[in-house]
Amino acid sequence: MKINTAEFIISNSDVSKCPKEPLPEYAFIGRSNVGKSSLINMLTGRNSLAKTSGKPGKTQLINHFKINENWFLVDLPGYGYARVSKSTKETFQQFITDYFENREQLVCGFVLVDIRLEAQKIDLEFINYLGEKEVPFCIIFTKADKISKGKQQQHVAAYRKKLLAEGWEEMPQHFVTSSSEGTGREEVLAFIDGVNQD
Ligand code: GTP
Ligand code: MG
Repeated sequence: MKINTAEFIISNSDVSKCPKEPLPEYAFIGRSNVGKSSLINMLTGRNSLAKTSGKPGKTQLINHFKINENWFLVDLPGYGYARVSKSTKETFQQFITDYFENREQLVCGFVLVDIRLEAQKIDLEFINYLGEKEVPFCIIFTKADKISKGKQQQHVAAYRKKLLAEGWEEMPQHFVTSSSEGTGREEVLAFIDGVNQD
C-alpha cells in the first residue's frame, strides 16, 4: 500500500473527544520505549510524524494520525514504566482501557513486544485482557535489527509456546519488524489494507 498522506489530527486523554468520523483505526500499544511511535513513523515513511525518544514515557496521550484521508493510526502511551504491578485496572491507565473497551472505530490493536526479551508479565497481562474483552489484535515484534534472523525465529517460537501455555489456542497473527531497517513494513501495511477492504 502506498502512503500518500499522513497527518496529525489530535491528541487527548479523553476517548469521547477522539475524532468522530467512522473511519477504521489501528492502535499501537506496548511497554514504554518498545518502539510504538518509531513504528508509526516507519510505516508512514514520515520520520518525525510521531514523537520518539530514547527515554521511556515520551508519548503521554492518545494521538490520531489520519492516513490517505480514510483511516487512522493511533499512537498510545506506553505501559509498565515506573509502575509497580497492580491490578489490571491500576496497571493500565484508565483512558487506555477506556479506549480499547469503548472506541468503536478500533478495528485492530497492535501489541508491540521487544523481540529480544522473553515474554514479559505485563505484556501477557495486556494480551490476556484484550482476549477477555474480545478486542482483535496482532503482535508486533520490534527491534529485530538487534538480533540475528536465527535468534528472531527462536524468540518468536518461545513467545508462541508461552501464549499456548497461557491458554491461547494459537499464536495470534504476528509480524517481525525493525523501524530502523524498515523490516516488516510491507507486511503490516498489506494486513491493514486487507482489513480496510473487508
Ligand atoms: P513511549 O512513547 O515512551 O511509550 O515509547 P515508544 O514505544 O513510542 O518508543 P519510541 O518509538 O519512542 O522508541 C524508543 C527508543 O527505541 C528510541 O530510542 C528509538 O530510536 C528506539 N527504537 C524504536 N524502534 C527501534 C527499532 O526497530 N530498532 C532499533 N534499533 N531501535 C528502535
Ligand atoms: Mg511513543
